[in-house]
Amino acid sequence: METISLKTLSMEGKIYVGTDVISTRLPLLTATQNNFVVTDDHVYVLYRKFFDKYFQNAEIYVLSSGEENKNFHSLNAILEKMAGAGMRRSSRLFAVGGGVVGDIGGLAAALYMRGISYVQIPTTLLAQVDSSVGGKTAVDLGGIKNVVGAFYQPCEVLVDPTFLNTLSEREIKCGIGEIVKYAALDSELFDILEQNLGKFSDVTFWKNLISTCIQYKVKVVEIDEKEQGERRCLNVGHTTAHAIELSSVLSHGESVLYGMLLETKMALMAGVCEKKYGERLLKIIHEAISLPPHIKTQSFDIETNAKKTLLDKKNREDHQITMAVAKAKGEWTILTLPFEKYKELLFAVNAND
Ligand code: GLY
Repeated sequence: METISLKTLSMEGKIYVGTDVISTRLPLLTATQNNFVVTDDHVYVLYRKFFDKYFQNAEIYVLSSGEENKNFHSLNAILEKMAGAGMRRSSRLFAVGGGVVGDIGGLAAALYMRGISYVQIPTTLLAQVDSSVGGKTAVDLGGIKNVVGAFYQPCEVLVDPTFLNTLSEREIKCGIGEIVKYAALDSELFDILEQNLGKFSDVTFWKNLISTCIQYKVKVVEIDEKEQGERRCLNVGHTTAHAIELSSVLSHGESVLYGMLLETKMALMAGVCEKKYGERLLKIIHEAISLPPHIKTQSFDIETNAKKTLLDKKNREDHQITMAVAKAKGEWTILTLPFEKYKELLFAVNAND
């Protein structure tokens, strides 16, 4: 088991990675009374024995799976169930599932009695490499992703790659989207992916990169927990990705792959990304996109997509689109474009895809 510490101004949390983390850490964490679990129906059915074993005395809230349920209605239902079950300030919440469960479970923990302790148990590749670490919690509102939330760190994150054995190819691909993002930031990871383009369909290859991604993220979050500067790098590809996700049937990770593809091309066209490096990065992104299941190039409407980017919370001014983009190996930058220019570039890069 590998232990990674994450120290911020508000607390010091631990992230444990390994196939023994559940059996080693969970009995210690659940030994106290009044545990509350947030999970989704998909995970609950698949891992019934796990819940029966570790959470037999806990209250369990089972959310319907899907991003569309990451809203105030569900959040309210979770909080009401916590209150109804007599959860106290000393109680602990466990978020067992993918990004949606982690985001909404974390927010419920942040709000209940002004904040109770919580543990992330991510069950998807995307949640293991990215969303369970760093304390971002949120729900969506009015068609805008993650617009209501809090930075609130889990006391522990238990990352057990065994959970990934039940994931579909599509869910693995979603996680790969975030790992490719880390490759655009970290030169070592970039080299690993570039040298292993032929191994992209091997899940073990990705499992072995989980802790590298977490370590990178921890470094960034320790410098800038509340995304005032450095942490903005973790949004590479995400401005366009969030808009794609809101205007198509693509999942978050699939949208991240497309967002990175389009934004890297825009950065090349705008002259802010070094040409040779940008082309090498595009090769990695293309390799990931071509994994099954195939994402149709025209899965999203580019006009609708462009309009949705105006709603992105990364934008600092009206009618300006702000993107974190790859600049050179191991380097990134902020590219801010007037909306009309963004739209023009988006159409241009989409047309020659
Ligand atoms: N997923 C990006 C971040 O945690 O900042």
